[in-house]
This record gives sequence, structure tokens and C-alpha cells, in this order.
Amino acid sequence: MIVTIDGPAGAGKSTVARAIAAKLGYIYLDTGALYRAIAWKALATGTDPTVPAAMKRLSRNIRLQIVHTPDGAMEVEVDGRRLTGEIRTPEVTRAAAQVAALPDIREELRPIQQAFGRRSDLAGVVAEGRDLGTKIFPEAQAKFFFQADAAERARRRHAELPVSDKALGLEETRRALDARDDRDQTREIAPLAAAKDAVVIDTTQLSVDDVVERMLRVIEHKAADRR
Ligand code: DC
Repeated sequence: MIVTIDGPAGAGKSTVARAIAAKLGYIYLDTGALYRAIAWKALATGTDPTVPAAMKRLSRNIRLQIVHTPDGAMEVEVDGRRLTGEIRTPEVTRAAAQVAALPDIREELRPIQQAFGRRSDLAGVVAEGRDLGTKIFPEAQAKFFFQADAAERARRRHAELPVSDKALGLEETRRALDARDDRDQTREIAPLAAAKDAVVIDTTQLSVDDVVERMLRVIEHKAADRR
């Protein structure tokens, strides 16, 4: 079973995806972390994340590992170095949106994501990102698209910032979020969009439990259809 959750930043995808994965015993796939890992390496090596040729070279030479921790979280390793808070800084966040607009990078990351869908040792996958229902797992049995008011999304993102970046005000967080949404939605390749067969959920007024419950009902239905 493949479950996809797409939507803009701060719509609640990660929290809910982890909860669903834990409930169903599925593996959690945070595809944004892959773009962030490449962006982190670009910044660490002084590579301009907007230059396609340089980024293609970088992505060809990167050793990217996905690690699942016992508590169900997903982390990435770049060239043997485990990255956690480093890929969540505002600088990496900004660079990740630039990296995500490069076709070669998306091509490099596609098979890494799709491999999870083919693993027979997994009961299922809950994958979150921007183009999972449309491009990476078009065959997914249960697709969701989250949306939420921009002010609420900014509030959630600000609350999640590492302590070292808390000084960044809510206003500034909102501006950065707007700019990133704009980039994610208007890029030529794999822009943020709901798949035709996705269930759209507006999470602005909903608790995590509400969203999880709704999704589990949909997933159960889809699983019953397959039997
Ligand atoms: O979900 P996130 O904030 O960690 O994503 C980081 C960036 O990567 C963001 O700008 C959107 C982009 N992204 C993407 O283009 N496609 C995905 N499947 C996941 C993330």
C-alpha cells in the first residue's frame, strides 16, 4: 500500500505522515529531506544551488543514505555524515526550493523514492512531498493533498524552527514561506499540485487526530476496495 501526502509547507504533512505510518506499521518517507540534503551539500561546498551544471555534478557525486530510526523518524546521511537540524535551517530551506526546481536533481532523486514503493519487505509506505501523487507514485492507492491558510502555516513553521533560528520573526517566516510556495507552485517541472484522484484536506481548523482519523477511514476504504 502506498499513501502519498502532498501540499505546501506548514500544512501539517510531516506530523500526520509519521502518525499514520506508526499506526499502520508503514515506513515514513520524507522526500523533502532528500532535496534538503543536496541543498546542504551545495552550501557546505560553496556550490551555487541555482546553477544546473554544478548541481548536476554535485548530485552525481553525493552519497545519499536514508536512515530510519527506531522511533519511526527518517534521517539522511550525506557522504557518511548524519544530518538532522542542519537541513532545517532557513538557509538550507531556501536553497532546497532552488535545488528542487532543477530537472536533473529531480531525476536523480526519483528512483531513490520509487524504490520504496517496490520493497516487498514493507507493509506500506507513507510518503510526503510535493509531487508524489502526481509524478513519483501515480499508482498510489491512497493520495492526499493538504492545504491550510497561509497565516496558520507560517505559525506552525515558526513554532518548528530550531531554537537558534527562533529570532526569525513570524512576519519574516511568513514572507519566506510565501516566496517558497510561489517557487514550488510556479516551477516548470513537477510543480506543487493535487493529483486528480487525491483527497483534499484543509487542515487549518483540524487537530492532528482529526486529520489522522479522516485519513485512516479513506485508507481503510481503499484497502477494502483492493481485496
Ligand atoms: O517538505 P520540505 O519543506 O522539507 O521540502 C523542501 C523543499 O523541497 C521544498 O522547497 C519543496 C521541495 N520538494 C519538492 O519539490 N518535491 C518533493 N517531493 C518534496 C520537497
